[in-house]
Amino acid sequence: SYVITSRCAGVKDQACMDVCPCECIFDAGDQFVINPDDCIDCGACVAVCPVEAIYADTDLPDQDLPSLAYNRDFFRL
Ligand code: SF4
Ligand code: F3S
Repeated sequence: SYVITSRCAGVKDQACMDVCPCECIFDAGDQFVINPDDCIDCGACVAVCPVEAIYADTDLPDQDLPSLAYNRDFFRL
């Protein structure tokens, strides 16, 4: 699945939510997050984020690894 990193915080552009075909992106308050159980790995959200905050979980930079748990925990998975 895809993961929204902390670069979203303070930006929250919402373009990702608008293009997501499965409505699995939610506003978590400080940033947006993706429900990994519903994400179909289409990648559409990556291209539209103005701050490049979104990565595939398999492609996440080391410093953004905490975002993996942050996205999951929002949905209590
Ligand atoms: Fe939605 Fe596709 Fe992004 Fe997953 S990869 S959050 S399904 S737009
Ligand atoms: Fe955040 Fe980028 Fe979406 S700033 S709300 S991840 S388009």
